[in-house]
Amino acid sequence: MTAFSYDLLSTDGTARRGRLHTAWGVVETPVFMPVGTAATVKGMMPESVKSTGASIILANTYHLMLRPGAERVGRLGGVRKMMGWDGPLLTDSGGFQVMSLGPLRKLDEDGVTFKSHLDGSKHRLTPERSTEIQHLLDATITMAFDECTPFPAEKTVAADSMRLSMRWAKRSRDAFVPREGYGQFGIVQGSVFADLRAESVAALGDIGFEGYAIGGLAVGEGQEAMFEALEFTTPLMQTDKPRYLMGVGKPSDLVGGVARGVDMFDCVLPTRSGRTGQGFTRRGPINIKNARHAEDNRPIDEACSCPACSRFSRAYLHHLFKADEVQGLMLLSWHNIQYYQDLMADMRAAIEAGTFAQFEKNFHAMQSLGDI
Ligand code: GUN
Ligand code: ZN
Repeated sequence: MTAFSYDLLSTDGTARRGRLHTAWGVVETPVFMPVGTAATVKGMMPESVKSTGASIILANTYHLMLRPGAERVGRLGGVRKMMGWDGPLLTDSGGFQVMSLGPLRKLDEDGVTFKSHLDGSKHRLTPERSTEIQHLLDATITMAFDECTPFPAEKTVAADSMRLSMRWAKRSRDAFVPREGYGQFGIVQGSVFADLRAESVAALGDIGFEGYAIGGLAVGEGQEAMFEALEFTTPLMQTDKPRYLMGVGKPSDLVGGVARGVDMFDCVLPTRSGRTGQGFTRRGPINIKNARHAEDNRPIDEACSCPACSRFSRAYLHHLFKADEVQGLMLLSWHNIQYYQDLMADMRAAIEAGTFAQFEKNFHAMQSLGDI
């Protein structure tokens, strides 16, 4: 059996190249985790996800507890077994998804009561129940139950929210059942306030987790403020534990996040965009539904090795989207996940080579060329 551990292999400036060992496989960092909210990376077979180089995926407590239900997933052997994903799995704790429900939720010291977005039925999440559910889902990495502080927030509100999340982090830790090769991450909150982020990092460090996430970002503050928050947060974090920036982001967010010492990311963007016709390329995003692609025989991205690019043209993908054919969204989701995985692999190589600053410059130059 493998112990859950993180090796910091090398650094280049503040960018980090690392390796995460888990019960279900090794994760090379910096890493992007495709999102499989409902125990499926939407539109993709697990082997297709794996073929892009993805080594770990994410699923959601909130969605799976409502449907098909945590105990049922447990009886089915967990999310990994149920969906046929043999690598490591990280699950979010539900705090963030419940927060997005707005008026459908009520928060108190003990936890959150909320109404299902599916059928209006009443449910409750506490740090203890969220942790128990994530065990039933067989999460390789369990996330602490937190409140994602809305943005903008008055400092007093942000402080109260962060301190509640820290009390919940302690209760989440107490509820966590250690198993060989499994880990649990705490989540730093504190909005855009440097002293609150520092207090949160210290509180989580005192509790002690296998890794630390940065939450409460990419919630409307903008890229500049997010980067600034990272700049005053990551230098305070332990260097020997993985750092995970939750819910981020665009390709330029990933590059800027890695530059600021982040090791792990997740975002629905590549798959969600893939379903609506947005494709990411080395020259920036395109919309495949645009008429200019109707007779374009080139691939989405000449440098991409995915099936959408190696076998099919922009013109064909354009047609599939115009005709509402399922294969269109499958191929574009596949391409976008491949693009994200290639971007992470390129960043890992650049950090190893000590050329990350050059990589970053080149990335921005290429993106600003635009698709022609
Ligand atoms: N996903 C994006 N941001 C957050 C956050 O602050 N907390 C949790 N639990 N999940 C997130
Ligand atoms: Zn491609």
